[in-house]
Amino acid sequence: MLGHTFSILACSTSLLVFNHVVAVAVPRQVSATLADSIVVRAQNIVNPLSPQQPGAAPNLDITGSYYISQNSPNPLIRSTGVLAKALTFLYGPPVAGGPAYPTGVLGLLKVVADLASIQLDLTPESAQTVLDDGNAVLGVGKYDELQTLEDYTKLYDGEWTTTLPKGPDSGVLTNYTDDLLFSMERLSNSPYQVRRLNPSSDSLNFQIADAVAENITGSTLQQLFSAGRLFYADYRDQANLTPNIGKYSAACDAYFYINSNSGQFLPLAIRTNVGANLIYTPADSANDWLLAKMMYNVNDFWFAQWNHLASTHEVVQITYEAAIRTISEEHPVQALLNRLMFEVFAIQPLAQTVLFDPGAAVDLVFSYSGSSAATYTTRYYQSVGSGRFRSNYFATNLQSRGLINSAYGPALKHFPFYEDASAIHDAISTFMTAFIGSYYSSDAVVAADGELQAWANEANGPAKAIDFPSVITSRAALVNILTHMAHLASTSHHTINTNELLSISSTLPFHPPALYKPLPTAKGVTDVVDYLPPLPQILAQFTIGALFARPDFVGTNRSLLHMFDGQTFLSKTNAQTRAANGAFMSAMQGFSFQVSSRTFDADGLSQGMPFVWQALDPNVMPYSITT
Ligand SMILES: *[C@@H]1O[C@H](CO)[C@@H](O)[C@H](O)[C@H]1NC(C)=O
Ligand SMILES: *[C@@H]1O[C@H](CO)[C@@H](O)[C@H](O)[C@H]1NC(C)=O
Ligand SMILES: *[C@@H]1O[C@H](CO)[C@@H](O)[C@H](O)[C@H]1NC(C)=O
Ligand SMILES: [Fe+2]
Repeated sequence: MLGHTFSILACSTSLLVFNHVVAVAVPRQVSATLADSIVVRAQNIVNPLSPQQPGAAPNLDITGSYYISQNSPNPLIRSTGVLAKALTFLYGPPVAGGPAYPTGVLGLLKVVADLASIQLDLTPESAQTVLDDGNAVLGVGKYDELQTLEDYTKLYDGEWTTTLPKGPDSGVLTNYTDDLLFSMERLSNSPYQVRRLNPSSDSLNFQIADAVAENITGSTLQQLFSAGRLFYADYRDQANLTPNIGKYSAACDAYFYINSNSGQFLPLAIRTNVGANLIYTPADSANDWLLAKMMYNVNDFWFAQWNHLASTHEVVQITYEAAIRTISEEHPVQALLNRLMFEVFAIQPLAQTVLFDPGAAVDLVFSYSGSSAATYTTRYYQSVGSGRFRSNYFATNLQSRGLINSAYGPALKHFPFYEDASAIHDAISTFMTAFIGSYYSSDAVVAADGELQAWANEANGPAKAIDFPSVITSRAALVNILTHMAHLASTSHHTINTNELLSISSTLPFHPPALYKPLPTAKGVTDVVDYLPPLPQILAQFTIGALFARPDFVGTNRSLLHMFDGQTFLSKTNAQTRAANGAFMSAMQGFSFQVSSRTFDADGLSQGMPFVWQALDPNVMPYSITT
């Protein structure tokens, strides 16, 4: 095999060899040049604000056990240590948008350490990506020049096996025209946009003729709305972003509904909001409706990716920065955050270098520019609500969108994201309750912990965190804060990123990140394939997915199962915390078994969906943010 002739260890050299092999093996236009350029960027991530090594920083190692503020055996040394951190870990300008990014001697040291860690992760991942890219190029014959939708499914035929060992989620290559697959993705791998319309406070943004709606659903749009069965997703705010040349996109808004007969959550209509502003429904021709769903997917993938920076990375980043400046390294809460926030400062430089820079990944494969992505994510962080802390607590967020505990309309029959994330969220919360309970004998002790109150003040003051509690006066409140940070750094993040990019949310042909032909001005499209990406852009797209995947973490101590299972952390805590870790690990082992043994039932469904979703397997997903 030509593709295997290069060493996977000497990555940059192998890229040269690889280009050479490609040049002789396949037609010139099918080189992996765009993909290569992304790998090279990933190998050269720097802090754009300060590429140099920082100077000397305070020694943060603590030797004994962890103590809450009131119990420190050396209060003077402790307060000097916190002061040293506050003087050397400073807020600098944002990198890749969002909140303040670390600067100062200690701040830069943390950044350098996190960048070094992520490079260690990316070195094998880059090599594996290059290997898969090379094989994908050599396999070009089998895609039959991507002339049909079926040809696009062959992109996975024995390909991407290193970075995506189990292949795309079962069902996504065979059942993607099924409306239920499209709608249930909003309740699994992309659950952060859709909301139930409240009949007493919302209104309908567009209409569907009664006869059409009745034909599809058995009810009129107004009847569905009044019954609390109507849901809405809105991507109209993408209409004014700067497009990349040769790439196109709609700015869809869409209705979904709960069907009264089957109880299924299904799509009802998609409006494009650009050009002829067509409104599509399942009553349209198969081609028209499939293209409409793909147009929605373009917008949805854009939102999911650039919103996730705002809603996960940037929120934990600024909250952790505030903690570093106010809480001693001797504090059990800080020790826990140090573990959970592994690599957290590496991501904004990665986003800037690999994704947002001119000519980088967003410019190459998305419909709008990298600078639009940076602006969009910052807007979601600052003013759309994604940067808010408490109002995005797991259940609070889902309830505010009418997805759980709705006061109107029927409950969702299946809600895979909620089902899986709940199992993990509950286990995290149980651990945190035991951990905090072991250090704080009462709520009054929490309220009297000066470092915790300083954290809350700092977050709401200089850090400018959004919607963080202004005081922390009970064990439950502290448990909620820590559970949320663990949730954001794991479950919430990996639902839409990490292994999900390659395995479901950017799988082709159904999820193109951009269209390659101007939108139709009338219905009656004859060939949906005309709108899909060509091979060089596909390789670039899969390369991003591959670099962000973490197949090597499966079954290792980087997986969620080991979230609290750090030697340093556990050895300096206490017996109750170690016992709580044991309970967490066995709960997560049981849940992993449940998720990993999922298959289709007699109806060809899994969790009510025509694909098998296993993203939140605790033995597979990382415990921390890694990409
Ligand atoms: C409703 O469905 C019937 C049968 O499929 C079809 O003949 C009719 O044209 C449809 N009406 C509308 C308004 O779509
Ligand atoms: C994971 O295990 C490896 C050895 O297999 C060890 O070197 C490393 O420190 C561990 N990492 C964590 C985060 O516990
Ligand atoms: C989905 O695809 C799988 C094969 O990949 C098939 O077994 C199953 O029946 C399909 N489900 C539906 C609802 O079509
Ligand atoms: Fe991410």
